[in-house]
Amino acid sequence: MKLKQIESLLGRIQQFSNPKLDLEQYPTGPHIASRMLYTAENTFGDVNGKVVADFGCGCGTLGIASAFLGADYVIGIDVDLKSLETASQNAENLEVDVDLIQCDVKNLSSRGQVIDTVVMNPPFGTRKKGSDMEFLSVAFKVASQAVYSLHKTSTREHIKRVALRDFSANSAEVLCELRFDVPQLYKFHKKKEVDIAVDLWRFVP
Ligand SMILES: C[S@@+](CC[C@H](N)C(=O)[O-])C[C@H]1O[C@@H](n2cnc3c(N)ncnc32)[C@H](O)[C@@H]1O
Repeated sequence: MKLKQIESLLGRIQQFSNPKLDLEQYPTGPHIASRMLYTAENTFGDVNGKVVADFGCGCGTLGIASAFLGADYVIGIDVDLKSLETASQNAENLEVDVDLIQCDVKNLSSRGQVIDTVVMNPPFGTRKKGSDMEFLSVAFKVASQAVYSLHKTSTREHIKRVALRDFSANSAEVLCELRFDVPQLYKFHKKKEVDIAVDLWRFVP
């Protein structure tokens, strides 16, 4: 599927109707999500024919984009049931198969690296310190091929150090720096849109 077509289809996704601040629920927009998955497939071959897991899938955007790009099997995992219901409806409306599991990512265990690629826009750790690194730690345990993840640019050096030293990554590369628009979802957001610098990472476990 072409990039523009993916972006346009992702634009039809229904997002969090009542986002939960403590879970850092803000959506990845169609522009960033389509490019993230398109790059994963067209530059690195990490999606088509692969088993892809979307950690903290929310309303399903990254998992659905993976399905558009020919993933063999897609699983979306989120702790929030309401988001999973929306994700299920989105997948049905867009006619793709995505299996959804309600689970805290921290509690996932694996009998081996049964997943090829993990894609995620995890909580940045602004409400619960360290939640971004918890997601990353589990992703490294279950992924055999690659982990794609968005993190605040301000944490770049820390992420690189922990990935290489503590998670024994074979590589940790920032593919690009993005301006991530967080819509005015919460009362403490004074401006209409909060725009933060975010890195798109590709890790090889
Ligand atoms: C920044 S949102 C990203 C949502 C979606 N992946 C997207 O890109 O639009 C983070 C998501 O992680 C979920 N989440 C937060 N903590 C979690 C946890 N411990 N385990 C599983 N999911 C969690 C939230 O419910 C939320 O849907």
